[in-house]
Amino acid sequence: MEKPDILVIGGGGREHAIVHALKKSPRAGRIYCAPSNAGIDEEAEGVALAVSDFKGILAFLAGHPRIGLTFVAPDNPLADGLVNLLEEHGHRAFGPRAEAAVIEASKKFSKQLMKENHIPTAAYETFADYKKAEEYVLSAKYPLVVKADGLAYGKGVTICRHPAEALKALKDIMLDDVFGNHNPCVVIEEFLTGREVSVLAFTDGRTIKTMPSSQDHKRAYDGDKGPNTGGMGAFSPSPYYTPEMDAYAKEHIYLPTIEALNRMGRTFKGVIYFGLMMCADGIKVLEYNARFGDPETQAVLPLLKTDLLEIIDAVLDEKLDTLDIEWSDRTAVTVVYASGGYPGKYEKGLPVTIGDVGECYVYHAGTKLADGKIVTNGGRVLCVTALGNDIADARNKVYAALNNIRVEGGFYRTDIGLKE
Ligand SMILES: Nc1ncnc2c1ncn2[C@@H]1O[C@H](COP(=O)(O)OP(=O)(O)O)[C@@H](O)[C@H]1O
Ligand SMILES: [Mg+2]
Repeated sequence: MEKPDILVIGGGGREHAIVHALKKSPRAGRIYCAPSNAGIDEEAEGVALAVSDFKGILAFLAGHPRIGLTFVAPDNPLADGLVNLLEEHGHRAFGPRAEAAVIEASKKFSKQLMKENHIPTAAYETFADYKKAEEYVLSAKYPLVVKADGLAYGKGVTICRHPAEALKALKDIMLDDVFGNHNPCVVIEEFLTGREVSVLAFTDGRTIKTMPSSQDHKRAYDGDKGPNTGGMGAFSPSPYYTPEMDAYAKEHIYLPTIEALNRMGRTFKGVIYFGLMMCADGIKVLEYNARFGDPETQAVLPLLKTDLLEIIDAVLDEKLDTLDIEWSDRTAVTVVYASGGYPGKYEKGLPVTIGDVGECYVYHAGTKLADGKIVTNGGRVLCVTALGNDIADARNKVYAALNNIRVEGGFYRTDIGLKE
């Protein structure tokens, strides 16, 4: 199709970064985004549909025949088979089908895949029976890590220092269904120590091309204190992820993962995310995601020089091997400006003011327009990204921009990338 219109599914900072990148493509027609936010609305046409409203999405596509591509960004619709459904209705969709997205949606599945294929990861056991899990944690070595098998909004993992914490985590998942996914299965794994790094990659199921590495900051407050969040900031690339590590991981982790999925008839096409821990005895996989991470995407995509739409086409046409993907050699730092109280209870509808941010990118996450003014509409409100010659330079720029931004009652970490 000549310059197809595009529908992006999702409405957070990640989707704003994706829309912004697609907007730059000379191959793209109009861009729609469901459900969008105040920032995305400035670059795309917002569509008032929830990411879970599959019927609504199909109806919207039926009414907009010029849409030649639907980009499914968030985890839940991927796991629930939105790409499968779109393909069955003859639509072109970017993102893994449900049978491949299961590497994120089921930690039990992904651990088994790694074990069977000798992909380095923490030793583990799985349990579906509470009594057996209880018995195990009462006699296990600590610390250990309890993980809910299914999607849990980034809250399904507990690092346990003693049996009481493990028992609480087991009760939450197995007896009380606190994540509401009716999945009592848990993975209990060995506690690893080391530095974390995330590696995103494009894959068409045959070729895999990694993006610059990144590191996110999960805890709410400076010094990695406070509760876990969806992510309070990120930088890219990580200075600790060397070309040698990349070569090792390609051979022992990335390719074996893609090939294992192929052998199972679960070919993965889209963006795959490797959560890695650099341990004393080598790199190990903490988890897979089946999509762009948030907020890593807001740090990584601004470094992309190649047309994102050209990459998407190469993935869908299984021609990724023929494409040279170019990245800037600059460093990106992204800081999340969150609502006061996040990740706990927070108020919505508070004013957001964005002044002069120089060359920084301001990606909107939880915002909306009310009477023509931007107000808060979520826990993570804005993601601000600066590019610099190194982390220190990018940090200076991003925090200078943040001085001219105000989210009433909000907060952000002042130490993103500081240790580096
Ligand atoms: N085996 C482990 N050892 C030490 N820390 C871990 C381990 N598994 C997970 N973690 C920590 O918990 C975080 C969340 O775990 P992860 O498996 O990425 O799940 P999710 O992102 O779905 O919550 C990781 O980023 C890491 O900091
Ligand atoms: Mg994770």
